[in-house]
Amino acid sequence: MANNKTTFFATQIGSILATAGSAVGLGNIWRFPTVTGQNGGAAFILIYLFFNIFLGVACMLTEFIVGRNGASNPLRAYIKAGRHKSWGIIGILSLLCGSLILSFYSVVAGWCVYYLYLAITGGVLGSFDHIQTTFTTLVSTEGIYTCCAISVLFVVLTHLIIVQGVQKGIERASTCMVPLLILLLIVLGIASCSLPGAWKGLEFLFRPDFSKVTAHTFYDAMSMAFFSLSLGTACLVTYASYFRKDANIGRYALQISIIDVLVAILAGITIFPAAFSVGVEPDAGPSLIFLTIPNVFTSAFSPTAGYYLSILFYFLLVLAALTSTISMHEIGTSLLSQELKTSRTMAGNIITVFCSIMGILCALSFSHPDIGLFGSTLFDNFDSFTSKVLMPVGAFATCVLVGWIMPRLTIVRQLTSNARYPWPRFMLELFIFLVKFVCPTLIGIIFVVNIFFTN
Ligand code: PHE
Repeated sequence: MANNKTTFFATQIGSILATAGSAVGLGNIWRFPTVTGQNGGAAFILIYLFFNIFLGVACMLTEFIVGRNGASNPLRAYIKAGRHKSWGIIGILSLLCGSLILSFYSVVAGWCVYYLYLAITGGVLGSFDHIQTTFTTLVSTEGIYTCCAISVLFVVLTHLIIVQGVQKGIERASTCMVPLLILLLIVLGIASCSLPGAWKGLEFLFRPDFSKVTAHTFYDAMSMAFFSLSLGTACLVTYASYFRKDANIGRYALQISIIDVLVAILAGITIFPAAFSVGVEPDAGPSLIFLTIPNVFTSAFSPTAGYYLSILFYFLLVLAALTSTISMHEIGTSLLSQELKTSRTMAGNIITVFCSIMGILCALSFSHPDIGLFGSTLFDNFDSFTSKVLMPVGAFATCVLVGWIMPRLTIVRQLTSNARYPWPRFMLELFIFLVKFVCPTLIGIIFVVNIFFTN
């Protein structure tokens, strides 16, 4: 099948879960608690909620509008929406952005697979020294082959789902995995809150301390909302091209944002009470879930409970990562299969080979920090370039496109699915106002401040 223009998700719930699966990922379970910990807890969460709901839902809708209107890959969708070939650049940048994110994301996803294996064989439980040695060995020259192999394994796993197609691969996998993931998080959250001293973690999470808020907090909250909702990567444009004509995209955007926030907060409820109950600092950084959480399983629970809960936790991380990597891979697969007029398998092979090679380089950059630019590792280069540059640029351009260039009639038709779900006039005006002025201004200010005024 060289052209999948007529491909749709089969059901509404499948469309929502697939898109929520893209949003819910390591961003929610790995990054959100880390960034919340570093920014002092509840005050950060409030700012994050603001960005997620106002900026996030509006930006998500702009991508849905471009995607469903285009009914094609991001390259063609942007050209169709902007009625000029130059808009295709945003489609190409999104291909680059999705592939770069997949490259470094697969390294962390690979660690999750490795930790799942360790959890099953009892290897994550033990003294803190043992846990620390496990992690440092994995990312050192000694463990580097394992590290590279597992990140390639993750890209290949993603590939195997992608080549099954949109309905049988993406939709089916997400429909099973997302509800399971939420269920597992609830079980873990309850276990964590039952620990002595757990209330300190809940207090950290829910009692705001505004003295900790700085200009940087706003930037962190916005980038977190972007990353977490998969904005500015054309992932949502690609998925929206698979939405049916009668899909209520306004409702979809709201539901997906709510699921995303709930999962992030549930992850916080799982991680912070457990961490506080054993006296682990909440700002431990990216290693939080690989260094401190195993320590929590060892010291806070009985050996049997610790064993099963650690398996559940790392299984949960693998599921969360997989539903997201599928969506990153799909951007390139759909774009290349249509533009090169080739099969999904062939297009998928190209993305898989490219991201595996880049993934290996990102994995290597932990043991060989000289692999990288501007004094940072390649892993950090990819992370900052995508979240500080490509994602804001993609989201900014999409807002400008929808707010200033697309005909209003097309926007209203998409939002209301051809008058099937009428929007109150006030809501329509608010949306247009947000997309025309508020979102581009906020994205622009935060982007410029961070590129030019912070180190
Ligand atoms: N939203 C995903 C997460 O929270 C990451 C992601 C970014 C997925 C960009 C797709 C595109 O982990």
